[in-house]
Amino acid sequence: MNPTERTLTITDALGNIHTVRIASAEVMEGFGEALAAQCKGGELIALKGDLGAGKTTLTKGIARGLGIAEDITSPTFVLMKVYAGNKKRGDSAPLSLCHIDAYRLSTWHDLEAIGADEYIGHPDTVTVIEWPEQAGVLEHCAPAWSIAIV
Ligand SMILES: Nc1ncnc2c1ncn2[C@@H]1O[C@H](COP(=O)(O)OP(=O)(O)OP(=O)(O)O)[C@@H](O)[C@H]1O
Ligand SMILES: [Mg+2]
Repeated sequence: MNPTERTLTITDALGNIHTVRIASAEVMEGFGEALAAQCKGGELIALKGDLGAGKTTLTKGIARGLGIAEDITSPTFVLMKVYAGNKKRGDSAPLSLCHIDAYRLSTWHDLEAIGADEYIGHPDTVTVIEWPEQAGVLEHCAPAWSIAIV
């Protein structure tokens, strides 16, 4: 088995499930970029998978797709990072990226305490959350895509 191969199980807001095989970290970023191109704002993208599965790598691609030039680093210790996007959308503001790592959180109140609730679902923001099951976010907000990486 190729050690860089990952399988994504993607559930959309309607409950449709797709499986995608990803051959490498580069392809994972490209997939994220394509996902960002589908975003209109307000999307929550839930990324599930073990340590090192590739959640942050996928997020890097989403950021690239939103026209964010900054390097995306894991928000493991800061818990949340917000990046201004750069992609023109007619008269609308470019989409920002809110990247949350909920690994160290345990309730929705923890997300509120870091101000994440102001970004989740905001029409000018795409929110990506790693370890969504840790913070009870799925009980408060339905993800546009829930992606399990193995
Ligand atoms: N197909 C692949 N997709 C994504 N990452 C891959 C792939 N193949 C190899 N990798 C490598 O695996 C590592 C994934 O790390 P990454 O930080 O994205 O994982 P993570 O799921 O965010 O982990 P954590 O739970 O610690 O935040 C990177 O070093 C990346 O280069
Ligand atoms: Mg990560």
